[in-house]
Amino acid sequence: MAKVAFIGLGVMGYPMAGHLVKQGHEVTVYNRTTSKATQWVEQFGGQLALTPKDAAKGQDFVFTCVGNDDDLRQVVLGEQGVAHGMHPSAVLVDHTTASADVAREIAAHLALRNIAFLDAPVSGGQAGAENGVLTVMMGGEQTHYDAVKPVIDAYSRCAELLGPVGAGQLTKMVNQICIAGVVQGLAEGLHFAKSAGLDGLKVIEVISKGAAQSWQMENRYQTMWQGKYDFGFAIDWMRKDLGIALDEARRNGSHLPVAALVDQFYSEVQAMKGNRWDTSSLLARLEKSRS
Ligand SMILES: NC(=O)c1ccc[n+]([C@@H]2O[C@H](COP(=O)([O-])OP(=O)(O)OC[C@H]3O[C@@H](n4cnc5c(N)ncnc54)[C@H](OP(=O)(O)O)[C@@H]3O)[C@@H](O)[C@H]2O)c1
Repeated sequence: MAKVAFIGLGVMGYPMAGHLVKQGHEVTVYNRTTSKATQWVEQFGGQLALTPKDAAKGQDFVFTCVGNDDDLRQVVLGEQGVAHGMHPSAVLVDHTTASADVAREIAAHLALRNIAFLDAPVSGGQAGAENGVLTVMMGGEQTHYDAVKPVIDAYSRCAELLGPVGAGQLTKMVNQICIAGVVQGLAEGLHFAKSAGLDGLKVIEVISKGAAQSWQMENRYQTMWQGKYDFGFAIDWMRKDLGIALDEARRNGSHLPVAALVDQFYSEVQAMKGNRWDTSSLLARLEKSRS
């Protein structure tokens, strides 16, 4: 069993850290809003620290799951960041969806202290975190991956090393690029079904048995048909992720016309005050254009 710290008890981090306790690991948590950390300790029984640095002291592995690049820099490299608490030979595993650049930047800083780094963004959403069945896309060295994999198994059903530091974030970008087009296609299909006077639920029950099937279709068609979006993966997060992917694409020369267009569609949903709506709310934008 390992001694670990978990930094960031948000929608994702809270249940992920809980799974580590359930697997028998010794867990210390830090959360910027301390009340969430107190609640977590009451529920799971680990230790609470008041700074990331304190949480990281004496741990074999430190996990982070915060919002974006700047949040990550703050909890790792800031004055009270984990970098100042971790001992050499410890491993930092970052589950934030961030840029590949920040992953490389942090790895370089930590290497000066002999601390290892793996970027490890996740896919599977809140339900995946709660049920411990996330997909984890990792970048870093094989020996560090081998060491942490049995610990990460507590909340994942697939955790793979894709290449050197940054490769996990690049893989997550591919994931988000694929999702953007699929969700827009599904939204257009349901919009068309409504316009054609079809029973959308029946339509999806049939076509999901064929080539049109997707995770989004299986998991989102009912709520989309009902116009319910107040749950799930927030558009603000998706725009952050598509922004990261589009920046990277400009550098590596790839063309992402559909991802760029869907990003603009999401900005229109934000203007409808849908910032926290699920990404499937692309249908709400189409329905609005009907009225
Ligand atoms: N939600 C999903 O379905 C999902 C799925 C896959 C990947 N992700 C990614 O996973 C990451 C976390 O997502 P989430 O849904 O768990 O977000 P969230 O619920 O908003 O939680 C964010 C966490 O980060 C902490 N935090 C943010 N900025 C910080 C800072 N500057 N210093 C210290 N702590 C800070 C927050 O602390 P406070 O409690 O104090 O605000 C909170 O614990 C994001 O990168 C997201 O894109 C999310």
